Amino acid sequence: MTNAYRIAVLPGDAIGPEIMAQAVRVFDVVQKHRDVSFELTTCPFGAGAYFSHGHAFPEETKAVCDTADAILKGPVGLSHEESQKIPVEEQAERGAILPLRARYNTFANFRPITLSKKMAHFSSLKPEIISDGIDILLIRELVGGLYFGAKERGVNDQGLRYVKETLEYDEQQIRQVLKVGFEQASLRKKQLHNIHKSNVMMSSVFWNEVLEEVRVDYPDVEVIHLLVDAAATALCLNPGQFDVMVMENMFGDILSDEGGGILGSLGLMPSACMGPDKAYYEPSHGSAPDIEGKNIANPYSMIGSVAMMLEMSFDMKDEANAVWTAMQSVFEAGFSTADLSSEGQLLSTEEFGNKVMEKLDELLGK
Ligand code: IPM
Ligand code: MN
Repeated sequence: MTNAYRIAVLPGDAIGPEIMAQAVRVFDVVQKHRDVSFELTTCPFGAGAYFSHGHAFPEETKAVCDTADAILKGPVGLSHEESQKIPVEEQAERGAILPLRARYNTFANFRPITLSKKMAHFSSLKPEIISDGIDILLIRELVGGLYFGAKERGVNDQGLRYVKETLEYDEQQIRQVLKVGFEQASLRKKQLHNIHKSNVMMSSVFWNEVLEEVRVDYPDVEVIHLLVDAAATALCLNPGQFDVMVMENMFGDILSDEGGGILGSLGLMPSACMGPDKAYYEPSHGSAPDIEGKNIANPYSMIGSVAMMLEMSFDMKDEANAVWTAMQSVFEAGFSTADLSSEGQLLSTEEFGNKVMEKLDELLGK
């Protein structure tokens, strides 16, 4: 029987539709070669959705996402000036992304920081530091912490304006993401870097207490504790020491962007946001309004997000690997996109997509 999957496609803003147009081509190539069918429904989401539908995450989009087998989301948001035309609570980050994460409780955010050996020239690090390429899985807690804690603004007793944001986690929230970290570590090198700030933050002290309870179930996984600031340095100086890293929301936001920095571009950072019943997939980068419509955005992270969906939502690991191989082979053949390098032959968004689909077609046809 043919497996039929329904996918909600949220192209998003600025470069979103351009990179999404390339990413969804993967579904066509896969269903041409495999006994599977994908039904795609495109929905408004983000700043554009606010202008057209009055909400950044419209009800009709929620309805499609609710019944979809998986969600593919492009980057959202506008330039600072354009965003000012939207009420704060409806701006794309607060009005669309965070509600999407909360709605499906996508607590485990998988952000692979990977660069094949032959793509190592794109890295911002010296060749001797990353001669073997980079292969890290950063796991970020995605629905707790400062992002979702209570917020308050006001005027205090001295008449001064103040702001208060709270970092909250209950033990269950910490346990569930740590378990994902341990599970991934057991599938890989059996080493887990626990990133925290327990020398200052009570939340990290608590996090580490829960970790001690969780690790009992994973006796073969070695835990290495590292303070988040030290981790930021270590990622630049010796990324090869990391395999799986796990951390709370805000730390993960910052270190995953550093991940893009050491790869050479955030354009190389796809991600998967996993909840108990639903997952959505998105690039880790923003919508780059400055290059909108120029056909120069790198679609790697968007196409890579489809690869992650194939593997993690549909159990199609071989097909996912073929997508990675196809993308890497294009770069390894000496091509580049504008974000990565001005050397080599530069490909437009669409040209990169053409080459990847051609290669993918060949790989899956074998
Ligand atoms: C990310 C982004 C988001 C975040 C923003 C757009 C809300 O930076 O996915 O890393 O901070 O989580
Ligand atoms: Mn971020």
